[in-house]
Amino acid sequence: MERETSSPLPLAGGVGGGLPLTSTGTLADSASPPLSPLPLAGGEESSYQTDALIASDIDAYLLQHQHKSLLRFITCGSVDDGKSTLIGRLLYDSKMIFEDQLATLEADSKRVGTQGQEIDFALLVDGLAAEREQGITIDVAYRFFATEKRKFIVADTPGHEQYTRNMVTGASTADLAVILIDARKGVLTQTRRHSYLAHLIGIRNIVLAVNKMDLVDYDQGVFDTIVAEYGEFATSIGIESFTPMPISGFKGDNITSPSPNMPWYSGPPLMAHLEDVSLDADIAQAGPFRMPVQWVNRPNLDFRGFSGLVASGVIAPGDAVRVLPSGKTSTVARIVTSSGDLDEAVAGQSVTLTLADEIDCSRGDVISIAGDPPQVADRFEATIVWMADDAMIPGRAYWLKLATQTVSATVQAPKYQVNINTMEHLAAKTLDLNAIGVVEMATDRPIVFTPYADNHTLGGFILIDKITNATVAAGMLHFSLRRAQNVHWQAVDISREAHAAMKNQKPMVLWFTGLSGAGKSTIANLVEKKLHRMNRHTFLLDGDNVRHGLNKDLGFTEADRIENIRRVGEVAKLMADAGLIVITAFISPFRAERQMVREMLPEGEFIEIHIDTPLAEAEARDVKGLYKKARAGELQNFTGIDSPYEAPEHADIRIDTTRMTPDQAADMIVEHLIP
Ligand code: ADX
Repeated sequence: MERETSSPLPLAGGVGGGLPLTSTGTLADSASPPLSPLPLAGGEESSYQTDALIASDIDAYLLQHQHKSLLRFITCGSVDDGKSTLIGRLLYDSKMIFEDQLATLEADSKRVGTQGQEIDFALLVDGLAAEREQGITIDVAYRFFATEKRKFIVADTPGHEQYTRNMVTGASTADLAVILIDARKGVLTQTRRHSYLAHLIGIRNIVLAVNKMDLVDYDQGVFDTIVAEYGEFATSIGIESFTPMPISGFKGDNITSPSPNMPWYSGPPLMAHLEDVSLDADIAQAGPFRMPVQWVNRPNLDFRGFSGLVASGVIAPGDAVRVLPSGKTSTVARIVTSSGDLDEAVAGQSVTLTLADEIDCSRGDVISIAGDPPQVADRFEATIVWMADDAMIPGRAYWLKLATQTVSATVQAPKYQVNINTMEHLAAKTLDLNAIGVVEMATDRPIVFTPYADNHTLGGFILIDKITNATVAAGMLHFSLRRAQNVHWQAVDISREAHAAMKNQKPMVLWFTGLSGAGKSTIANLVEKKLHRMNRHTFLLDGDNVRHGLNKDLGFTEADRIENIRRVGEVAKLMADAGLIVITAFISPFRAERQMVREMLPEGEFIEIHIDTPLAEAEARDVKGLYKKARAGELQNFTGIDSPYEAPEHADIRIDTTRMTPDQAADMIVEHLIP
């Protein structure tokens, strides 16, 4: 099942760019009409066609530049640190500013005049930012530029804490992070936060750009003090190495050429470092071969190939491979691409593999080198960044998307939340927008994965709300939980079919849902009596009764109701396995959990019956006097009053209790089941 949450960023998805995050940002300029080229000398990239192509079809443009490697990086810092000036400088020096933007820039610089008659690069970047559409969920501006050696995509995300999700989105595909520091201010809270996030997302290359060196007289002492302080902090959070650099984005020191103002600095200027630093894709090639299967390519009966992007390693025809999770093995017959067969494929390439044997393999499976396969498990520990306005709901099932796999997953209450300014661990019951925590999670079936630290593609995931389809979290898998590894399925000889056959009936779960006092229990009870009389083997699970026993530890918070329904769903499933017709009568107010139970059962065995009584009617009846109490404020979280009820959108059976008696309703249900 493939669900896209928003239009994917056309540039995302390179190797090493692990989290399958999409963002609403595109190239900052792509919405503008094609622009005329900047008349700067030596700008061999800047032909009219090139610029028009960048604006209209970045993929085609990238194709033209296939011989150059692509570095994705992120800049962390605020405008005050000179971030916009630095990005503007990089764009300007690589001649990637369009003519009319330059004209505006010069005019603006003179008018605003913060930098005398010189060009204020910050105006360029900030101006572009202001042009972008606002009010969208995860807004990241991507800018493109190229030099002789390499092409670059820089993700420019806001630095404030309330934009953590933007930064994580931008960082998720980055090979490198530039952490900007104002030389006059040194290491700040936000420096620590940005570094922590960059490290968390697994960015291996960190540049500590100590900016505004011109304002501290290019003093080596200032630089050395900042580097020492940062080094101590970096070590404390597990950053193994970083590249410190004294620069001035405004004056251009150590940007494209070594600065004559800082002869004491012997390292490369920023641009040279960006051009030479090793890419994640190169590192990924060193790992064992893994390719998540994106689709099965079967144009005719004679050809069956498995297409995907190689996530790590190298493969050649004749290599022994293993398909996971099944574990079946074969050897690679051919590596097919649109431009002919290959002798080998490496990380970062999209290919189609054909295998020597006819073995089962479909979308979501992972083809790996036979001798060193990734793990398969259904319980994990992970770090999660919560990205939705609504807080995480422990126990709720979300879609988990990891590489090409999509499964249903539930998240437990966090083990702890991380204070992203101090890195302290805090107790937490849930995660709010932008919160980061460590959680345990369970998937409804085993998935193929590697720890995120080993491979971003097979260890990074997102969570998607099943009802709204919005991306609610990004996560990084740490390891599978042993508990799961040591508990296996035990085969039993009497199957659920055998149980059902003995009772001479088709097992079913009749799931009643509706407000308190809607009439669920009354009608469910009548349905059971009628079925019983017809010699059907039934069992009624009623909310009030189950809450006296199995679920007596649960109350009426969202999380408790979710757990209530999860347990009842599991019990109903076991009873259906035993061949029974199970009748349940629970408010079960949330669509997501009713859907979850539906998915636990074989197709057609879950019958959702909406006992549709308007709130006013249920309240008027008030059989148990609970509405009165709730209105009086003596009962909290009462469904329909101060706790929501999400009515079914496509119930299998809908009963309007204002139009029929309970007995008529029960007849209608039985008639529907046993015509
Ligand atoms: S559910 O929301 O978790 O599905 P369930 O069906 O088990 O609820 O229990 C609902 C019954 O508990 C109601 O019919 C009512 O008798 C009782 N009850 C007590 N407090 C509440 C409350 N705050 N909200 C709803 N029902 C409540």
